[in-house]
Amino acid sequence: MIEPPRRAVLAGTGSYLPEQIVTNAQMAERIDTSDEWIVERTGIRQRHFSAPHETASYMGAAAARRAVEQAGMAPEDIDAIIVATSTPDQAFPATAVHIQAALGAKRAFGFDLAAACSGFIYGLSVADAMIRAGQVNNVLVIGAEVYSRIMDFSDRTTCVLFGDGAGAVLLRADASGGAAGLLSTHLHADGSLADILYVDGATGQRDKSAYLVMNGREVFRHAVTLLASAVTEALTKNSLTASDIDWLVPHQANRRIIDGVGRKLGLPAERVVVTVDQHANTSAASIPLALDLARRDGRIRPGQLVLLEALGGGLTWGSALLRL
Ligand code: ACO
Repeated sequence: MIEPPRRAVLAGTGSYLPEQIVTNAQMAERIDTSDEWIVERTGIRQRHFSAPHETASYMGAAAARRAVEQAGMAPEDIDAIIVATSTPDQAFPATAVHIQAALGAKRAFGFDLAAACSGFIYGLSVADAMIRAGQVNNVLVIGAEVYSRIMDFSDRTTCVLFGDGAGAVLLRADASGGAAGLLSTHLHADGSLADILYVDGATGQRDKSAYLVMNGREVFRHAVTLLASAVTEALTKNSLTASDIDWLVPHQANRRIIDGVGRKLGLPAERVVVTVDQHANTSAASIPLALDLARRDGRIRPGQLVLLEALGGGLTWGSALLRL
């Protein structure tokens, strides 16, 4: 008898947002901007900024704890922890091992993954492959970011766009032959566009600042086309059309990019989860944060088909299709 293939099923989600909320009006007290400009160009109304103790590992562990709890598992059940972050606590050890220790996930191995805003989709893809290969059963994929620490507050075009937070999903291996699970993931990169969105420093360089630099127009120009092609790729691979999708959970960079992709797909706005107004762009954390909120408030329900997409520095981009 042929056994059904192993699949990565979503067992739990969790998220964490720093306590401090910074509104557009508060940003306008600090830099030359206005609520009107920010809302019109980006849809962002507020963001959360972390306190000193709210590091990527602190927030990632809090989000992961909620995902493990929701799945009805114990930290000892976790086999691997993948953390997507561009703002790790330290160059090494990885943020993932700090989270492993904080959770008490003694059996788990862990590593960080750097793909900027696409990091969560990249992490899902790696976890999916490890589960399908039979290497692990229970994997935490976490996006955790403290972009407030790499913002150049003298650059008003970028510093209004980002916020801090963390989101986590717990994937569990399933070989029951059921419909639920990650159907496919699709990853892309084009390093020739590295100079339109980057951080101008790293621990490998001395005497350098480490601030985010972005050519917003160029990123915008590529974003809608590349994201639309990544979601079409996911649909085609699974012989589906946009009308089969219950929810689009996009990376939350900018309301205009989100609407542009939704329009290209022909998806009504009611089927798109939007948090960018409340969280701004939390990079690798934005998709798991949005997914967790929409599951906890009852919008996304078991059995539904969810399409995820992201684009970020690299450029990197990708998509994933998930049946809950
Ligand atoms: N407040 C007020 N005015 C501002 C601000 C601000 N915060 N920032 C820029 N301006 C001014 C500029 O100085 C300029 O003024 P000028 O015409 O007198 O020179 C004017 O607004 C227009 O500036 P642009 O940079 O051309 O503004 P644009 O319409 O391109 O909007 C934005 C900028 C919002 C960044 C846009 O390019 C964009 O959305 N890009 C997508 C990039 C993105 O979302 N990146 C997120 C990270 S990547 C990712 O996660 C996918």
